[in-house]
Amino acid sequence: MGQKNISKYMQEAVRLAEKSIPSAHPNPAVGAVITKNNKVIGKGRTSHYGGAHAELNAIKSVKQKKLLVGATLYTTLEPCSHTGKTPPCIDAIIQSGIRKVIVGIIDPDKNVSGTGLKALKQAGLIIKIGDGSVIVKSQLRAYIYNRTAQLPFITAKLAASIDGKIATSSGDSQWISNNKSRSIVHQMRKKVDALLVGSETVIKDNPHLTARYGKKLYKKQPLRIAIDSSGKIPISSNIFNKDSKTLIITTTSSPEKWRSAIKNKGHECIILPKKSNKVDLYKCAEFLHNLGIIHVLVEGGGKLIGELMKHELVSMINIFYAPIIIGDKNAVNMIDGLKLNHINEALELSELSYQLVDKDISITATIKYH
Ligand SMILES: NC(=O)c1ccc[n+]([C@@H]2O[C@H](COP(=O)([O-])OP(=O)(O)OC[C@H]3O[C@@H](n4cnc5c(N)ncnc54)[C@H](OP(=O)(O)O)[C@@H]3O)[C@@H](O)[C@H]2O)c1
Repeated sequence: MGQKNISKYMQEAVRLAEKSIPSAHPNPAVGAVITKNNKVIGKGRTSHYGGAHAELNAIKSVKQKKLLVGATLYTTLEPCSHTGKTPPCIDAIIQSGIRKVIVGIIDPDKNVSGTGLKALKQAGLIIKIGDGSVIVKSQLRAYIYNRTAQLPFITAKLAASIDGKIATSSGDSQWISNNKSRSIVHQMRKKVDALLVGSETVIKDNPHLTARYGKKLYKKQPLRIAIDSSGKIPISSNIFNKDSKTLIITTTSSPEKWRSAIKNKGHECIILPKKSNKVDLYKCAEFLHNLGIIHVLVEGGGKLIGELMKHELVSMINIFYAPIIIGDKNAVNMIDGLKLNHINEALELSELSYQLVDKDISITATIKYH
């Protein structure tokens, strides 16, 4: 076992799993390694949705099937015991002759949740749980949250001045962070299912909201989502181009003509209930969960992120602080509307990590709600 109680084989399984983000979606990205007499004999990771799971791919990768008899399987997540798009992994494991199964974590999905390991134990296999669990939990953070809360995992990402402003009072924000920070953001976009913004951000910035390397689009694009209660976003906005699909979440306050125009451009527009005359964000999160969206990156603005935090819907933040000061109370706040009276009511951050990105400081943290 090495750093953070992880064996070198589980470390390799974690590395393999990383390669399946986001192609495995909506399945969790899992990695598996098979060893015999302390030698790696097989490896696998989750295929595209509908394809084989990591364990099966690892078993398939072993050409001489007799080598599997008495072998050990390392897998980041508990093998599944139910039939979905593919047959249960446990059947293939038992039939292969594998003797020992070492898992990172138990699958929180209600269809599995320990039943896979129970069945393997009943078949006489040796089971060990927890190898690299800290790292696996972090890698599968969005999936675990999604399966337990039945809501999407929301990460907020912003570029801010040192004094916490994300645009000047005129709404100018391009560009606060440096090139390197912005290319990291494209990597983040590539790994999530959806990008979310408020209507003001679309109106002021006219973003494309796509995941790009240089000027090229990544093959798999996240769904673009904008929240606009009253139908203010112009139909000519870049989010309605053909680069990716867009979903507009609105209320009955928006004009029907505007909603039809969005659909005519090949995008989606749905009406959700109102709360204080705006889109009800909790209902919105439930709706996105029911669409199968697991990880959302909310990219602003401050009003939408503040409102999502009021609903305890943002789990993580990633702020790129640029070495500039805007210094204007009318400039746009990074997070707005929490209206707290006492410091002890402030949201606390944990699991902080810092990174210097050229001259920007990137801070990532999880949010603790009271
Ligand atoms: N530096 C950065 O990282 C960054 C990122 C994004 C944006 N920005 C800047 O930030 C500015 C826009 O941010 P902003 O805070 O003013 O606006 P915003 O958060 O982008 O959009 C707020 C709007 O979203 C709509 N909305 C619908 N339902 C809502 C709900 N339940 N709660 C909150 N809002 C809801 C509201 O308009 P309706 O009532 O009409 O629906 C509201 O006015 C722009 O100047 C942009 O340049 C900077």
